[in-house]
Amino acid sequence: MSRIGIIIGTTRDNSAGKVVGEWLYDLAQGRQDGVEYTLLNLKEFDVPLLTTDVIPATANKQYADEKVQAWSDAVDACDGFVFVTPEYNRSVPGPFKNAFDCLAGEWTGKPVAFAGYGPAGAIRGVEAWRTVVVNFSMPQLRNQLDFGFFTDWTDGEFRPVDAKVERTNSLLAELEDAVSA
Ligand SMILES: Cc1cc2nc3c(=O)[nH]c(=O)nc-3n(C[C@H](O)[C@H](O)[C@H](O)COP(=O)(O)O)c2cc1C
Repeated sequence: MSRIGIIIGTTRDNSAGKVVGEWLYDLAQGRQDGVEYTLLNLKEFDVPLLTTDVIPATANKQYADEKVQAWSDAVDACDGFVFVTPEYNRSVPGPFKNAFDCLAGEWTGKPVAFAGYGPAGAIRGVEAWRTVVVNFSMPQLRNQLDFGFFTDWTDGEFRPVDAKVERTNSLLAELEDAVSA
């Protein structure tokens, strides 16, 4: 059984990311035998700012801080990821980048797909993530999702247009293949 972690990469109260991540998780249920999806809501992990003098790459997945250890265990248990991400000031969201930086080998070599959302689908945020995940040799899917506030939300509710649902299913299929390979 392979496990794909859908990471809700925002820590704000009432974030749009939580709605998108939960929608993705629901859609992913029962998609394919042999692949299990799990939801990792970054806010619930409450990962502290990286202040330790130990460089995560030398920590051997063992951390003094119990919140970092819980985050490490959850990420380590996954074989691949969907990063559900906004862009903050045209780049990756700081809290998610901090949580990424707090770990190391837990990410190594695991496929990742990106689901961006925002006024313009977080295109620049995802592009910035692509240069980050390279550092842990994470195979990344070229295709990505770009949920837009002006196209996929109606009256404040997240209601992706049909074409986006189709694209989501095909992205998940591609990721499942990459994880199972
Ligand atoms: C600190 C900050 C910076 C932002 N910068 C951008 C930006 O550069 N480009 C953009 O399209 N949206 C930007 N936004 C708007 C976000 O896309 C929007 O608020 C989105 O809901 C954030 O995701 P979240 O609700 O899951 O935190 C920014 C929002 C915040 C809080």
